[in-house]
Amino acid sequence: MPKELLGTYFNYSFPEPQYLGAKFIHRGWIAQYIPQEVHTVLDAFAGSQSIAYMMKQLGKRVITNDFMSFCNQAGMAMIENKNVILTAQDLDILFSANRDPLLFNLMEQLFSGLFFQRNEAAFLDSFRSNVSLLVHPLKQALALTIMCRSMTRKVTMGHFAHTQALNYAENPERIKRNRSLVRPIKDIFLDLLPKYNAAIFDNECDNLSYNENILDLIPRLEGVDLVYFDPPYCNSHADYQSFYHLLETYVEYWKDKSFVNGTKRYEPKRFSGFDKTTEAVGNLEKMFELADNIPIWLISYNDRSFPDIKTMLGMIEKFRHVIVERKIYNAGRGGKGSVAGSSEVLFVCSKK
Ligand SMILES: C[S@@+](CC[C@H](N)C(=O)[O-])C[C@H]1O[C@@H](n2cnc3c(N)ncnc32)[C@H](O)[C@@H]1O
Repeated sequence: MPKELLGTYFNYSFPEPQYLGAKFIHRGWIAQYIPQEVHTVLDAFAGSQSIAYMMKQLGKRVITNDFMSFCNQAGMAMIENKNVILTAQDLDILFSANRDPLLFNLMEQLFSGLFFQRNEAAFLDSFRSNVSLLVHPLKQALALTIMCRSMTRKVTMGHFAHTQALNYAENPERIKRNRSLVRPIKDIFLDLLPKYNAAIFDNECDNLSYNENILDLIPRLEGVDLVYFDPPYCNSHADYQSFYHLLETYVEYWKDKSFVNGTKRYEPKRFSGFDKTTEAVGNLEKMFELADNIPIWLISYNDRSFPDIKTMLGMIEKFRHVIVERKIYNAGRGGKGSVAGSSEVLFVCSKK
């Protein structure tokens, strides 16, 4: 983190995420391009919330958004939340018996023998059944957020677009690299809990988390000084609903979906507009047009993405003056889009 950014709130730390495309490791680099005089910022595709959190640390009023519910729960827990933590009493509630096993059995039905052993899946259901007994919505959000993070730790590769979880959990080489594969989820949760509790702070702004398609949200927002766009790009794991369907199912506890293919992904999916090559360009254009009243745009991009950089620049330059900043990856991390040798790009866009 550059010295000039070491303000009051940088003694708090965001618990390291494991989320495809997360910009956690780039947060210090991105922070440099957020001018001091900016007051209200929007993280339009917040995912793990790692950049929204950095913005909160900078003392900005943060509006954060993601169309996935589990990401919004993290936004409520980590960005909106000023001082609500989980206490020992809350844990007694969360870890008590399933309050209605006939209603709360989705994880066991869908995912036992696939991502979890049956007893672990049943534990997830009983925890989920008790979440609504926590009276404060931010406590509920924090409990769900830590449990979602515990599940990504428990399952190999940290996502749910494969069917190898239980095989890998028996592979001694993999276990050596990641002990969490064989640890009870409850223990993983209890390890993470103090890190999350310690990450909650009040930056003296009323921050807000939304759970909308960004194309619907932008027209309703007023007074935003800067927007950070980190959309999914086709070619690099754009389909977040395939990778994280299980977390979404856990949070939504769907009663009106079917569950398809080997991974038991819910169907129908939500409409993104950015995850198909046939739709992405049109919707990026539409988004830029809608954001014309927000003076500063920061746009993350990777030089292996679709649409290519020339197309991106062509679209942005219709509305903004652009400077292209680059950071070269030294080590592969976070999947296809961030392999060694490729570069992370930030379009820094200002009014013409
Ligand atoms: C590259 S990730 C963002 C990563 C984030 N910057 C971080 O550091 O964790 C893209 C995110 O966009 C979300 N998303 C996809 N389509 C969306 C839409 N139409 N509106 C809002 N969010 C969307 C996905 O759920 C995903 O979390």
